[in-house]
Amino acid sequence: MTRTVMVTGSSSGIGRAISEHLLETGHRVVGLARDHDKFRPEENRYVPISVDLSQRKELMDTVQSVLQMHPEIDALVSNAGQGKFGALENFSPQQIESYFQLNLIAHALLSRAIVPHLKTRGGGDILFMGSESALRGAQRGTLYCAAKFALRGLAQSLRAECASRGVRVSLINPGMVRTPFFDDLDFEPGPEETHAIPPEEVARTVSLVLNAAPGTVFDEINLSPLKKVLRSDR
Ligand SMILES: NC(=O)c1ccc[n+]([C@@H]2O[C@H](COP(=O)([O-])OP(=O)(O)OC[C@H]3O[C@@H](n4cnc5c(N)ncnc54)[C@H](OP(=O)(O)O)[C@@H]3O)[C@@H](O)[C@H]2O)c1
Repeated sequence: MTRTVMVTGSSSGIGRAISEHLLETGHRVVGLARDHDKFRPEENRYVPISVDLSQRKELMDTVQSVLQMHPEIDALVSNAGQGKFGALENFSPQQIESYFQLNLIAHALLSRAIVPHLKTRGGGDILFMGSESALRGAQRGTLYCAAKFALRGLAQSLRAECASRGVRVSLINPGMVRTPFFDDLDFEPGPEETHAIPPEEVARTVSLVLNAAPGTVFDEINLSPLKKVLRSDR
């Protein structure tokens, strides 16, 4: 069955790999991001939508119009996000609020918008991009871990809330994935193949979740690089 999947953060890294894999396997993608120049496939099954998900009104207006224009959307991969690491006391109140706006509240607002749409269709899938940081806290990870822990709670509760209407909710928790996520950070995974998960592997995991038998839901999937090696000499 051909799926039409809304993927946030489709312009880079994990979201881009998910979009490419879905297109390669015959599905349609409605990709949400700010800058589509980074990824613009020559493919009419890919619809790029420009939106800043950190802006509440822009997010809500855009998602409503996308769902009206594409009523065939039957899944959401809520993936867009960024990393900020450091001591809590070094973030300004404004930085803390804007961090949670993109990395937590945007996921809740997107879900709030798509859940009634999927219920009306008789079911569908919502996948959240969590992290190993959804499972355990770490030094310098107050903001990142707090947002991912909360996302896990959102996913577990939404799953219970929507299951009777055929909406499956899943959480994928990767360890370090080799993407531009680390470009603005002062650390990155080690250079070897075993030090980071390829984004294509996360994309295959998304396909596994979407292709589960209708009565089965993958609650959570954790993936790790074989070896945990960080480089922080930048
Ligand atoms: N890389 C890792 O090691 C890793 C591990 C576990 C989980 N994750 C999670 O995976 C997700 C994707 O990360 P990634 O590694 O693929 O990073 P990435 O390559 O930096 O991609 C981030 C994506 O999010 C989008 N985005 C960021 N801010 C946005 C905004 N305000 N509005 C709309 N879109 C926005 C970006 O698009 P634009 O810049 O074009 O807007 C981009 O497409 C994140 O939630 C991250 O926490 C990453």
